[in-house]
Amino acid sequence: MEYIVTGGAGYIGGHVVDMLVSNKQDVTVIDDMSSGNHVNKKSKFIKFDLRKQFTEYKKLDLESPIIIHLAANPDVKESMNNIQDHYERDVTATLNALELARKLDASKIIFSSTSAVYGNAVQMPTPESYPSNPISNYGMFKVLGEGMLEYYSENYGIKSVALRFANITGGRVSHGIMYNFAHLLKKNAPIEIWGDGKQSKSYIYISDLLNAMMIATNKSKKTFDVFNIGNVDSCSVLEIVEIFMKYAGPGIKANHIGSQAGDVRTMLLDISKISSLGWKPTCNSRQAVSKSFDDLIGKAK
Ligand SMILES: NC(=O)c1ccc[n+]([C@@H]2O[C@H](COP(=O)([O-])OP(=O)(O)OC[C@H]3O[C@@H](n4cnc5c(N)ncnc54)[C@H](O)[C@@H]3O)[C@@H](O)[C@H]2O)c1
Repeated sequence: MEYIVTGGAGYIGGHVVDMLVSNKQDVTVIDDMSSGNHVNKKSKFIKFDLRKQFTEYKKLDLESPIIIHLAANPDVKESMNNIQDHYERDVTATLNALELARKLDASKIIFSSTSAVYGNAVQMPTPESYPSNPISNYGMFKVLGEGMLEYYSENYGIKSVALRFANITGGRVSHGIMYNFAHLLKKNAPIEIWGDGKQSKSYIYISDLLNAMMIATNKSKKTFDVFNIGNVDSCSVLEIVEIFMKYAGPGIKANHIGSQAGDVRTMLLDISKISSLGWKPTCNSRQAVSKSFDDLIGKAK
């Protein structure tokens, strides 16, 4: 099978490409290297900024590939300050990925959406049918991306799947709370806790995400479909600090700083829909957090 992975040099994209290549698939990566740095030498790499329309699609010489669209700026906090850049990376780039899908007559396009589309949902765990009500620009831009995906499916007949990821961690994770804590530990600087630290989110280990993505890609049958990909439980920032202390050892300081605009209070996704296709996470949120510190720091002290 032929695949295009946009953002294929990034954290998740790099793992997706490694997995596809190791499964002997034919993979073309499109990435502008704005934050990515992992290039699998067995993939075909095209350095391109998807904020512009990709016009040389004929040169790709691909027949009805599956497009996995991961290129974006995933930083929620930054999306509140740098709105225009985020819009172009999250919305314009998605439109251009959809145009690529249309021009290449793609057999399917998979879109990396986010739990942030729900905002501060009242229903926990939150099912896919729950109304979108984002509280960050990042979440709002992903809502727009899903809308464009559905429109392209209905009007151009391109099969598509939107995957609403919880927080992904482990492996070469390059941003987010575990990365920040490990990074500050290396600098011997105090870790930063946003707000009261009681905000609680669901964490998925990267290998569990890869399995879920492949199951959704291969088994979804509808023209347009949406799946939550999360864990069975959630883990608060204070619980993550407690786990981190086992790795950092005594003496590490923690500073409480102000809560961040756009940061949801609780996130726990209803995963019964993706589970009905035969997927379940192999480790819960706390285990995913620990495994991520194993990868970033080494074994606990
Ligand atoms: N990591 C998570 O916990 C998480 C959670 C929910 C959703 N997501 C989504 O998953 C996707 C991948 O996230 P990630 O964590 O791997 O982020 P990442 O920043 O590591 O990867 C994004 C990649 O996209 C590339 N890119 C950015 N703008 C581009 C452009 N205009 N043209 C071409 N390439 C561009 C970057 O260079 C990078 O390689 C994103 O769409 C993100 O919103 C991630």
